[in-house]
Amino acid sequence: MNPTLAGFLYLVAAVAFILGIKRLASPATARSGNQFASAGMLLAVVVTLVDRQIVGYGAITAGMVVGAGIGAYLARSVEMTAMPQLVAAFNGFGGGSSALVALAELTNGTGLASRTLVTIAISIFIGSLTLAGSFIAFGKLQGIIDGRSITTPGQRILDPVFAVAALAAAVAIVVSDATYTGWILAAFAAVLGVTRTLPIGGADMPVVISFLNSASGVAAAAAGFVIESNALIISGALVGASGLILTNIMVKAMNRTLGAVLFSAFGASADISLGADSEDRVARRGSPEDVAVTLAFAKRVVIVPGYGLAVAQAQHTIRELATLLEGRGVEVRYAIHPVAGRMPGHMNVLLAEADVPYDLLFDLEDINPDFPSTDVSLVVGANDVVNPLARTDSTSPIYGMPILDVDRSNLVVVVKRSLSPGYAGIDNPLFYEDNTLMLFADAKKGLSEVVSAVKEL
Ligand code: TAP
Repeated sequence: MNPTLAGFLYLVAAVAFILGIKRLASPATARSGNQFASAGMLLAVVVTLVDRQIVGYGAITAGMVVGAGIGAYLARSVEMTAMPQLVAAFNGFGGGSSALVALAELTNGTGLASRTLVTIAISIFIGSLTLAGSFIAFGKLQGIIDGRSITTPGQRILDPVFAVAALAAAVAIVVSDATYTGWILAAFAAVLGVTRTLPIGGADMPVVISFLNSASGVAAAAAGFVIESNALIISGALVGASGLILTNIMVKAMNRTLGAVLFSAFGASADISLGADSEDRVARRGSPEDVAVTLAFAKRVVIVPGYGLAVAQAQHTIRELATLLEGRGVEVRYAIHPVAGRMPGHMNVLLAEADVPYDLLFDLEDINPDFPSTDVSLVVGANDVVNPLARTDSTSPIYGMPILDVDRSNLVVVVKRSLSPGYAGIDNPLFYEDNTLMLFADAKKGLSEVVSAVKEL
């Protein structure tokens, strides 16, 4: 292929990646953003295969058919709640590919420049670590490996030993240019990927996956330098940077630090610590009929979805209830906390599945000023993201985390099965407030009964 044409097509692919990421910023344009980015990736792969004459057109077509088939199958069959582990697997393969590209270059190249050998070492290290770490994360989320923190005796001593051994192998690559040093580095990096991911509790996994996603981008960018591919450098840098930004957003919204997620075992077993006085206090229990009347005669209702909505798969029922209420002249909006659920954009995806219009979804900072003038806040399967202790109790693990101020509305209705805590494992005084009504039920079942009751009014 003409080098100028190949360069131009790579540029088109890079522009498609950038436009794709830009469009992913809003649910309204996310679908087309995905299409832009995948078209860019297809273009980059095909140009590379043709330009470097790696395989013929027959093999390219066969690869596209098989790849598209697997992609279509996964898109249709993987449940929305299983998305984090699918992303983990993708990251793992991305990291593994970058490490293999660098290992191939080390094996085939002769008299490689020191600069290239350094990028080869970086790519092998980060790629192998990402591969092993991602598949441990996958196993934990899929329930194949125990989701709690798994620590081994002597790990605090062994991990630094492995890290130093990996560093020594990386130096050996640059000094000796020998293939076997690359495999030694890959082995130590993989061991570190396993030992560093096992101690992290299942609930912290989304953060780890986002971080490993960023790492897979860095590995790809390094591989891009190795084989002098601008498209790989640009796409790797985009993944690396966006993954890091997302990781940062998640840890901030959870009021944690990346260091605490990676190097402590919080969230591992979600120790349940009910507030000392919770046993003395009584939560006000309501029936579906009580809730129906409360909602049907309100003027302004704000729905707060949380993890329990996803567990119960109640998104269609909540939409049905909202439509009924709107039909009665009630203003219904949705408040979205940035870390509600268990993955970024979890609630947006769920509500989009039920065709809730995007303009009814409000971010925390936009909706919080409106709670004092809200008649009813309907909290469905959410807990930590509405826990007022985050504002008041400096000893609480969620202290400082921005929350949705539902307690400032006239009435709060909470739909959940019990008084059990959520992810952070702490009691929620909201449930015992005078202006709170608890509907103890599975979200789908409870809301269905509320829908029936509203219809009968
Ligand atoms: P949580 O605080 O985890 O609370 C979820 C609540 O849902 C539980 O208290 C549970 O109570 C209820 N529930 C479970 N199954 C239910 C069902 N079938 N029907 C009705 N309710 C059900 O959820 P949240 O408020 O969404 O907060 C998210 C938490 O996860 C935050 O602490 C956040 O930091 C953390 N986190 C988030 C992310 C991302 S990126 N979103 C990543 C990692 C961690 P019952 O058992 O009583 O029903």
